[in-house]
Amino acid sequence: MTSAVLDVRDLTKHYGDVVAVDGVSFRVGAGEIFGFLGPNGAGKTTTINALTGLVDPTGGEISVLGLAYPGHISEAQGHIGVVPDESNLYGEMDGFGNLCFCAALYGLPRRVREPRARELLDRFDLAEVGRRPFAAYSRGMKRKLTIAAALIHRPQILFLDEPTTGIDVASARQIRRLLGDLNADGVTIFLTTHYIEEAERLCHRIAFIVAGRIVRIDTKESLLAEADGSSSLLLALDGNLEEGARLLGESFPDIAIARNPEGNLLLTAADELELLPLLQRLNEGGVKVYEARIARPSLEDVFVRVTGIEAREMKAAEGRGRG
Ligand SMILES: Nc1ncnc2c1ncn2[C@@H]1O[C@H](COP(=O)(O)OP(=O)(O)OP(=O)(O)O)[C@@H](O)[C@H]1O
Ligand SMILES: [Mg+2]
Repeated sequence: MTSAVLDVRDLTKHYGDVVAVDGVSFRVGAGEIFGFLGPNGAGKTTTINALTGLVDPTGGEISVLGLAYPGHISEAQGHIGVVPDESNLYGEMDGFGNLCFCAALYGLPRRVREPRARELLDRFDLAEVGRRPFAAYSRGMKRKLTIAAALIHRPQILFLDEPTTGIDVASARQIRRLLGDLNADGVTIFLTTHYIEEAERLCHRIAFIVAGRIVRIDTKESLLAEADGSSSLLLALDGNLEEGARLLGESFPDIAIARNPEGNLLLTAADELELLPLLQRLNEGGVKVYEARIARPSLEDVFVRVTGIEAREMKAAEGRGRG
């Protein structure tokens, strides 16, 4: 890593008896997109809140752009943008007004506030709704305006807590693209997510966080290379998944069999999987296969292996958390 813009050592946060963050250390380099990936209650929001100065840590050291907390928090805050999990904008104010208000808060000179607000509305495809009250925005629009507001003062680092949770697919795609563009313009990005796929698509480096601890931290490439060693096969069965899993489990004890969220069987083995014997066994048992395909190695495989948390448990987190 070249220069670390974020340096966190042994960060802890206790809420009474609850240990929300339990000795977390990591560095983020300039220009990186770094992701915290973990399930509900893992400590993602607490960590991001500590990094942005919203929460007082119980212990550990934080420095942002070389500015050590807590002494230099205010100075650091001038260089970071924060997109909280719940929007902090004013419902009764329109989108344009909210952006101008944020611009004023950050001390932008009066003459640049309105042009900057317009530029951001354009960039986030919100120009048409700029005069509508924020409260009347869809969830996707709200999230986009919240990100726009966080960028008003051209921060060097952008922090986002679950940027695409609870919004429509089109807005989520647009947000990912915008984050990619911002990063290409040199903005360092720290985000949290419980979407494995989102971490895989967006992040250069990923930390798996479980119960307040980082259980793995690596580049996406290294993590994916790990998944490459094993082979996975997806079997779409006609109806009887339980029976199919039972038959295969009995005859092929070395193959791990899981049910994927789409309701198919996902087989994983340390070695090359041979298709024919599997199909024969299912055929003998009267279970019909209508699709079999090699599954692309994904971050999901590594995540499940390292954390023991099934991907569907992460997906189940959707819908809770945010209303
Ligand atoms: N203000 C608080 N008071 C007491 N406990 C808290 C507080 N904030 C968080 N916690 C606890 O700390 C732990 C970590 O919570 P945190 O919100 O950081 O997790 P998270 O990874 O962001 O989860 P989610 O995916 O649901 O947003 C949880 O056990 C939570 O209940
Ligand atoms: Mg959270």
